[in-house]
Amino acid sequence: MCTIQPNYDTDPDRSAAWSPSWVVADEDWDEGAGRFVEEGLAPILDVGCGYGGFAARLPPPARWIGVDASSSMLAKVTARPAIQADALHLPFRDHSAGGVVCRNMLYHFDQPTEVIAEAYRVLRPGGLFLAETKARAQDPELVPSGYPPSTFDAEEAPEIVASVFGSGAVEVESWDGPIMVLPDRAAVATYTRHHHLPADIGERVATPLTLTKRGCLVWARK
Ligand SMILES: C[S@@+](CC[C@H](N)C(=O)[O-])C[C@H]1O[C@@H](n2cnc3c(N)ncnc32)[C@H](O)[C@@H]1O
Repeated sequence: MCTIQPNYDTDPDRSAAWSPSWVVADEDWDEGAGRFVEEGLAPILDVGCGYGGFAARLPPPARWIGVDASSSMLAKVTARPAIQADALHLPFRDHSAGGVVCRNMLYHFDQPTEVIAEAYRVLRPGGLFLAETKARAQDPELVPSGYPPSTFDAEEAPEIVASVFGSGAVEVESWDGPIMVLPDRAAVATYTRHHHLPADIGERVATPLTLTKRGCLVWARK
């Protein structure tokens, strides 16, 4: 099992190598942002917020606070406030947040439960936690043997979250379908770079390439 090394400051072009035009599925296949607003939960701490993609999906009157360790990522966020901090030491008081979001970031930690426990600490009773992650069995058309196991893959994510919040507190929404199309070889090369895959893997596939995306949202109520 590996921790995916965060290289957002040392290789910012890798994380930027991505095009939303590849997504052919319904726009909200991987988010769930509306639920926080429907339940009136605030503020929503977006831990490892990256470019602020989750903030862009939140309908008003959401109260969002972005947190990220990377200055390169924070330099690109337009939503405010966005602060630089470590997910393992959130600069928020106990029971102060209505929601905590950890989207596509828990696989950067040797022990994702340490970040989840920190989310639990800052959530108020009744608050909602959301983690999102990919399955290692996604993209079988490109990676037939699967991605190397990480510390927070969709295959185990629900039980990891349950180890902090309790199994009765957890709900899972999964996706598994032909959600993305890479139109040409240049797009395949960009995609493999973004996903830390060897460059030659893209030379073996025909384009356009439809990708089966697999992953899940894990919700947990405090
Ligand atoms: C794959 S990006 C995901 C960005 C965003 N959540 C999304 O889904 O689009 C992972 C983010 O986690 C951040 N990150 C990694 N380690 C972190 C840490 N220790 N504390 C805070 N943020 C961290 C990275 O800087 C990066 O912006």
